[in-house]
Amino acid sequence: MEIEVAALPATSRLDQALLRRLTAMINAGYATAEEGIWRDGTTRTDAADLARLVARGEILVARVAGRIVGAVHTRQLDATTGQFGMLAVDPVHGGLGVGGALITAVEDRCRARGLRTVQLEILTPTAWTHAGKAALAAWYLRLGYHVVRVGALGEMYPDLVAKLATPCEMVVYRKDIAPLPSELATRGLSSRSPRKPS
Ligand SMILES: CC(C)(COP(=O)(O)OP(=O)(O)OC[C@H]1O[C@@H](n2cnc3c(N)ncnc32)[C@H](O)[C@@H]1OP(=O)(O)O)[C@@H](O)C(=O)NCCC(=O)NCCS
Repeated sequence: MEIEVAALPATSRLDQALLRRLTAMINAGYATAEEGIWRDGTTRTDAADLARLVARGEILVARVAGRIVGAVHTRQLDATTGQFGMLAVDPVHGGLGVGGALITAVEDRCRARGLRTVQLEILTPTAWTHAGKAALAAWYLRLGYHVVRVGALGEMYPDLVAKLATPCEMVVYRKDIAPLPSELATRGLSSRSPRKPS
């Protein structure tokens, strides 16, 4: 199965049918994955929010046979750090590597922009173990991310606290990304580890 990942062009902000489809896919994914975390009626995003992010070129989509099956939001946080969030894959195509392909694309894009670190956050209930979040955390660890900070949701997203159905914290993960070999070559360096003297 070939998975193609690309940023949506800014003009897609005007494509209402596309925005509706993407909104439905993302909200359905989060409704299942974050069941019990939010008060009824809370959704992850809406078409207007997505249109704003698409206009900035911050939404990457994964396509299989031309059909959008996954999406992620990515942006630059500071001079050296990129971030991703709102990662969602159509459940029909779940477990086939689409989520992994989207993360690889985020990391490649950050690297190509000269960034050194990629960050993500996992919203995690503090009063009970959320099996899905635990599986997500294990996956991100396997992908090379590590916890750099645990913060109260209110510290980071004060507007969201009233929408929670259960107390949660934000676990912040980061991964250092190595420069591309081509980038090193232009700087006259090698991506290989130095050989030990024989
Ligand atoms: C999390 C999510 C994006 C993963 O997408 P995906 O396309 O299924 O991801 P992949 O196929 O690349 O697999 C990701 C990992 O999860 C595991 N996994 C995926 N589907 C699984 C399933 N049905 N059962 C068990 N494990 C599964 C895989 O083992 C894989 O790990 P590995 O590559 O080390 O083997 C998707 O499940 C989703 O949209 N979830 C809802 C929204 C969400 O929670 N987003 C993340 C917020 S931080």
